[in-house]
Amino acid sequence: MSADGIGKRTVRDLDAAGLRVLLRADLNAPLDGGAVADDTRLRESLPTIRLLLDGGASVIVCSHLGRPGGKRDAALSLAPVAARLAELLGQPVAFADDCVGPAADAVARALAPGEAALLENLRFHPGEEANDAAFAAALAAHADAFVNDAFGAAHRAHASTAGVAALLPAVAGLLLEKEARYLGGLVANPPRPFAAVVGGAKVSGKIAAIDHLLPKLDRLLLGGGMANAFLKAGGANVGASPVEDGLLDAARAILDRAAAAGVAMHLPVDVVVAERIAADAPAAVVPAHAVPDGMMALDVGPATLDAFGKALADAAAVVWNGPLGVFELAPFAGGSRGLAHALAALDAVTVVGGGETAAVVAREGLAERFTHVSTGGGASLEMLEGKELPGLAALDDAVV
Ligand code: 3PG
Repeated sequence: MSADGIGKRTVRDLDAAGLRVLLRADLNAPLDGGAVADDTRLRESLPTIRLLLDGGASVIVCSHLGRPGGKRDAALSLAPVAARLAELLGQPVAFADDCVGPAADAVARALAPGEAALLENLRFHPGEEANDAAFAAALAAHADAFVNDAFGAAHRAHASTAGVAALLPAVAGLLLEKEARYLGGLVANPPRPFAAVVGGAKVSGKIAAIDHLLPKLDRLLLGGGMANAFLKAGGANVGASPVEDGLLDAARAILDRAAAAGVAMHLPVDVVVAERIAADAPAAVVPAHAVPDGMMALDVGPATLDAFGKALADAAAVVWNGPLGVFELAPFAGGSRGLAHALAALDAVTVVGGGETAAVVAREGLAERFTHVSTGGGASLEMLEGKELPGLAALDDAVV
């Protein structure tokens, strides 16, 4: 890695005074009754916005919200996000009801240094997701420089992530830099012992990430529905637990490679089972290798949690992606909750993937006790898979 850690110029390399800056953020936040229901992504965008405003830039923020499919949809307007952003920033945020064209031009031009505006949802235009050259040029025309801080959308090659970066000086924001550093840089060069905990429902969604992580790991801990494929591949009776067809061989190959590489593999030793995925279904704890017929493993059990805690106790760095059970339902949330608390108590670099895993940590009120909780679901998984993210790749390379 280069000195700045991600090989890209960052907003700290930009002399922002007097510049008009187009800032791509991921302000794709859940709305409820016309207001922002969870402002985590807005808060995580603040350091870069503040740095630019304090540095004397006029900041023109743009984002997507939901998936309107290239058409205007009043329910997916960013207007409520502009209102919340203004509260968080403690200063007005002008709102343009389009992201290109006269309305956007007028709002962007009217900004003085130190002032901010938010443009309406980029995805109201088909050119955004198509990475259309004319649409990218219209966005670029607002500004003298481009800052991408939208980690959650960095795996998309869209006009506002990839296209515009070719048309302006283009640097990474502080959040994008932090995400790339922890999900890319840490994995490439981890302190040891380095452990990964991988869960989630389906093994198919995690094979690429495990493949990429395996050569770097000292320990691999597996839970969630995906662990059933590994248990079954090892000869366990997983009862009625769903195991994806054709993936037993992939699981076997990973077990073999882990053994050959000397990676300590930890699978569930006990599981919480039920006949149905329902909060009122009678649940029991059974050995992981002997799930009764007709029952499904829906969480890891207490002995597994205990074993996982011991396997992680002296880790120097841990990456966690994917819940250990059906955490949305209380009877099957114990594994994910227990792991969140165990990781939060570690004296280690602890990194949590976005999406469901971040939701577990947030629900437990533990986000502050992790080194880094990713704001990107799909983007964090792609980064753990070692893929190049188009939104990051398109930025100017750091000068070394
Ligand atoms: C997310 O919520 O994961 C990001 O904002 C990306 O959204 P998308 O999956 O609709 O591109």
